[in-house]
Amino acid sequence: MDLHIESRAAAQIETEALVTFVFEKDGRVEETLAELDRATGGRIQSLAESGELTGKYGEMTLLHQPPGIAAKRLLLVGAGKPEKWGGRELRRATGAALRYLKSRKVKRLAVLARELNRDAASAQAISEGLLLSDFESDTYKTDKKDEKKVEAAGLAGFGAARAEAERGMAQGRITSDAQNFTRALVNEPSNKLTPRMLADRAEAMAREAGLGVEILDEKRITELKMGALLSVAQGSSEPPRMIVVTYTPAQQKAGAAVLGLVGKAVTFDTGGISIKPADGMEKMKYDMAGGAVMLGVMKAIAALKPAVKVVCVVPATENMPGGRAQKPGDVQMAMSGKSIEVINTDAEGRLILADGLAYARQLGCTHLVDAATLTGAIVVALANVNAGVFGSNAEFTERLLASARAAGEKMWPMPVDDDYREMIKSNIADIQNVGSGKGGGAVTGAMFLKEFVDDLPWIHLDIAGVAWFDEAKPFAAKGPTGIGVRTLVDFVMKLGG
Ligand code: BES
Ligand code: MN
Ligand code: ZN
Repeated sequence: MDLHIESRAAAQIETEALVTFVFEKDGRVEETLAELDRATGGRIQSLAESGELTGKYGEMTLLHQPPGIAAKRLLLVGAGKPEKWGGRELRRATGAALRYLKSRKVKRLAVLARELNRDAASAQAISEGLLLSDFESDTYKTDKKDEKKVEAAGLAGFGAARAEAERGMAQGRITSDAQNFTRALVNEPSNKLTPRMLADRAEAMAREAGLGVEILDEKRITELKMGALLSVAQGSSEPPRMIVVTYTPAQQKAGAAVLGLVGKAVTFDTGGISIKPADGMEKMKYDMAGGAVMLGVMKAIAALKPAVKVVCVVPATENMPGGRAQKPGDVQMAMSGKSIEVINTDAEGRLILADGLAYARQLGCTHLVDAATLTGAIVVALANVNAGVFGSNAEFTERLLASARAAGEKMWPMPVDDDYREMIKSNIADIQNVGSGKGGGAVTGAMFLKEFVDDLPWIHLDIAGVAWFDEAKPFAAKGPTGIGVRTLVDFVMKLGG
């Protein structure tokens, strides 16, 4: 989609559809809307008086061939109460408008910002709303006679704030391209995205973006004694990969922080010998979403150039019940030197992250963030609404939660305290890979990871509930979401700034 800043007055914009936002304000038609109302000879006021236009959040009112304006259609999108109107609402309402118009085969449109949105952050939110909702997940449909993509969209109504609008639009394009890159990876089925293919895609992205990249094959992984990663990989005939992508800023202070971004990439999780039920197993192709999120973040920061070094580490493997697969009760030696009793082969994400986190530390990271579709238990706790946030350092974790709010992604803090440590003690080894006793499955998963980060500031994001939506929500399409990318891009930029 081509995005541009539209400087013509609203009534003069020749396009297939002009979109703007209407607040819930007792039928008052003011400012930007009043101008349109005058141009159309009072159409908006009369709709408001009839009670058909209320401004309720998400309401869609489409006018065809409205008099007095050059656009073929005028779409009035309900914006709800002005005091609840923030970046998240603007992004979602814009996205809903785009999908509404797309289903009517509109190819060119303009979004008219309201008077309170004439700034860079709003231009970014509108751009993201447009680009993210234009994502299609029908990659392998062979009948694509009807190309669905929107061709062009203008951002209008910014007036004197044109420079700010340009800046916000550029930023929105970068974050959306990164998030859609992540979503496309997550959408791939496991036969089109094996660990080796994921490594190829990561390498191609890194080279194009000007990032450093190193792919460790099974030989290197063995030399480095990554026994936890290898234990998961041994059940599959597809070899594992450890993907390392590096961003180095132009200027780096001595002793400055080095951020490690570690992402779980199980390209398919059958559960291994502790096999999962058949019903819904096809969805376990999205068990590489954590890795895909981190690669998306790297793609964005290559363009945004923060003043902090970032090392992205993505352990990639299948979890299969092959003849050589590990079995419940097996003891494995992680790269860090800790021994692990594998009670359940389906708790494989924490195994591969154990070596991913240890390797990030070995590469000099001083701060760590991991993202993983780690547990079904986080879905029990938070449903498909919030990602779970676990952290070892209150200040570091608060920064991440602030970035989540700024990016409009929902995340909620979860505990990691030593009372849970008891639950991962093993009789035979240092730790076991599932919690004993009842409940707390998402927390014991996090406690396991904490064993491999030493005392570094560390955050674990459990995105099992938010990386994929089975059903379309009023303001979000179904399928891969790419949730986490925008939060982490904001987080990295602020760490560098
Ligand atoms: N990949 C799954 C977690 C998951 C579940 C992701 C649902 C997305 C949706 C993970 O590897 C897993 O199987 N976890 C187990 C852990 C258990 C055996 C301790 C789980 O949550 O059941
Ligand atoms: Mn599993
Ligand atoms: Zn898994």
